[in-house]
Formats: sequence, structure tokens, C-alpha cells
Amino acid sequence: MTFHTETPEQTRRLGLRLGRLLRGGDVVCLYGNLGSGKTTFTQGAAKGAGFRGRVVSPTFGLARQYRARRLTLYHLDLYRVGEDTGDIGLEEFLRDPRAACLIEWPEAAKAYLPPERLDARLSHRRSGGRTLTFKARGGRASRLLRGLSGR
Ligand SMILES: Nc1ncnc2c1ncn2[C@@H]1O[C@H](COP(=O)(O)OP(=O)(O)O)[C@@H](O)[C@H]1O
Ligand SMILES: [Mg+2]
Repeated sequence: MTFHTETPEQTRRLGLRLGRLLRGGDVVCLYGNLGSGKTTFTQGAAKGAGFRGRVVSPTFGLARQYRARRLTLYHLDLYRVGEDTGDIGLEEFLRDPRAACLIEWPEAAKAYLPPERLDARLSHRRSGGRTLTFKARGGRASRLLRGLSGR
């Protein structure tokens, strides 16, 4: 399933819609080059999950935690981890049944990603906007995607 966004606000808006649907145990992988909109999308998702604070890239350390009443969201950025360098303690984040995980640069933890997850690939469009292509892995992710498409 593919979405096009023309502005950062639209990317945030799409993230917000997904964030509203997220539940504990959900994992969303965000693939895409630097500047493709992964953090922008995550800002919307955190808002949709009910978080009211500021969302920025997890520059210091790998992860940030956004606590909302309904849900905790872990925002991981594995850019500095590099290509599949092995165990980075992902299990600790995935183990929390009350939390959902959004992972930028998930390539770095390929072997540790759960089989059930929602994959999103973000890319630049020639128009200046972004393309976001989602692929559901497993039943829960399919339901998320149906929710996102409004069906
Ligand atoms: N649809 C869009 N059109 C134009 N710019 C966008 C769009 N979506 C996001 N951006 C902008 O792209 C820039 C990089 O986004 P960011 O989310 O930090 O990327 P990443 O986390 O993938 O490196 C930001 O300035 C953001 O506002
Ligand atoms: Mg980012």
C-alpha cells in the first residue's frame, strides 16, 4: 500500500493516523535514506498515540521513550549501529507488552526483528514530496494497514 505526501505536515498526519491505531506489542520498521521523513512520520505517530511532548531524533543513544496514558512508544534510530552488527538489546524494547516500537534504520538489526511487523519504506519524490510504501507482515500488521487505508 502506497501513500504520497507533498509536505512534512502530510507525512506527520499519516503518522498520526497510524499512531492512533497502535497498541502494545506493535512494531513498525521505517526504511529509507537520510531525510526521507522517518522522524517526521514518527512525530505524528507519537502524537497519535497520545504523547504531547517534543519528538526529535534519538541523537544521544539509540532510543527515546514517549509515554502517553494509553501507550508507551519507543523510538529507535539504529543509524549509528551500522549494518547488522548484531544484538543491540532490541529484545528489551520489544519485550514491553505495553509499548509499541518504531525503528529507523532497522537494517542494523535485521536478525532481531520480529516476523510480525509493519514495514514502511520512505523515499523522496522528484516533486519534492515523499512516497511511503507499507508492507504488512502478519495478521496484526494487516489490520493496522487496513485501518490506515480507512477500510
Ligand atoms: N512530504 C514531504 N515533503 C517535503 N518535505 C518533507 C516531507 N516529509 C518530510 N519532509 C521533510 O524532510 C526532512 C527530513 O525529514 P526527517 O523526518 O528528519 O527524515 P529522516 O528521519 O528519514 O532522516 C524534514 O525537514 C521534513 O520536514
Ligand atoms: Mg530520522
